[in-house]
Amino acid sequence: MTQSIWEASCRLPEFPQLREDIRTDVLVIGGGIAGILCAYQLTRAGADCVLAEADRLCGGVTGKTTAKITVQHGLFAADLLSRFGEEKARLYLAANRAALAEYRRLCRTVDCGLAAEDSCVYTLHREDQIRRELTALRQLGAEAEYVRGLPLPFTTAGAVRLRDQARFHPLRFLGALARDLRVYEHTPVRRLEGTAAVTDRGRISARKIIAATHFPFLNKHGSYFLKLYQSRSYVLALKGAARLDAMYVDGSGTGLSFRNEGDVLLLGGGAHRTGKPGGGWQVLEEAARKYYPDAKEVGRWAAQDCMSLDGVPYIGRYSRNTPDLFVATGFHKWGMTSAMAAAMVLRDLVQGRENPYAAVFSPSRTMLRPQLAVNGAGAAASLLTPTRPRCPHMGCALKWNPREQTWDCPCHGSRFTRTGELLDGPAMGDLPRRP
Ligand code: FES
Repeated sequence: MTQSIWEASCRLPEFPQLREDIRTDVLVIGGGIAGILCAYQLTRAGADCVLAEADRLCGGVTGKTTAKITVQHGLFAADLLSRFGEEKARLYLAANRAALAEYRRLCRTVDCGLAAEDSCVYTLHREDQIRRELTALRQLGAEAEYVRGLPLPFTTAGAVRLRDQARFHPLRFLGALARDLRVYEHTPVRRLEGTAAVTDRGRISARKIIAATHFPFLNKHGSYFLKLYQSRSYVLALKGAARLDAMYVDGSGTGLSFRNEGDVLLLGGGAHRTGKPGGGWQVLEEAARKYYPDAKEVGRWAAQDCMSLDGVPYIGRYSRNTPDLFVATGFHKWGMTSAMAAAMVLRDLVQGRENPYAAVFSPSRTMLRPQLAVNGAGAAASLLTPTRPRCPHMGCALKWNPREQTWDCPCHGSRFTRTGELLDGPAMGDLPRRP
């Protein structure tokens, strides 16, 4: 697996494996950005908090981000207004603004290269969508601008710009925050027994537990296997390409994204549902050849993100029946602000306090969205497909991905090497050896 430029330029602190039984107020499971920020916010609020990570901190999708800290989550405002109404749409925006402000505050004392930068969502052909988004953002109180003549290497039909968002080096930031936390690495949680977590060499008894494992690992509650799917996307790091004045992303969700880090351009795109055809590296390779023929590739990596049914993350009680178990997932490719919003919401909920944004993110909100039928029908078709190998998560038929030489699961996005070693969950182990 290739390293991102963040992984190649940062050494994270190391932590021991758990080798005894311990007690704590709050256990956070998962050492990516959501888990670290939850543990940090809770510890700072005075809670006794332990973080258990199965491997190394930030070893999953956090290390593969493009690290855009923006409240502009694609063309989101008009959709939010129509799905949730003005009050909730305002709360969603306010939660993400609070997250951006918290990054700015924390980064005053952390050397992580935080820089203010505008964020732009462009469209190739649908100017009407940009106009609609602009109206929605203004209705929600955001100072959005319509812009034309973008410095991109192709013609667009305009963009909507939000000023003064940010970018940073995510691993430098998280490494600094994690240093003072109580963390156990190489400590996979094998199962929960009430509010105790069983690991290979010790048991963690907690009053409350937060599952921050990217895709939630408990299938018994919350129906996350119906509420989430995963989308894969790709990044090329190019030297000698272009210095842009802002971060740019295509509003269609399947086009290209652009963001500079020093003299390197991060060209993102090629998104597709994991385990399904489409997108991939060749989209970026062709774009790089066409638009930046003299640029030199200095890195490439891929990530996959959990996508919710309605575009809003699931942050809160894992399910109605689990008062002491919480979750943060479904960040829909906007993990930087979503993870910080999750940490602030869960810090309050776990401590029994009100949080003004909690209702927007409630994992128990309605599941009656068109994506539910897509997820259900896809899973049913895959379960009925008789081919091998089968996914150890819930038994779907794995698909061979010749471009990445991996076995990918179209149901919830687990991935395995050619020889069956687990690359991405929610599966929790390798494929069984074939006789
Ligand atoms: Fe769920 Fe494969 S069946 S990831």
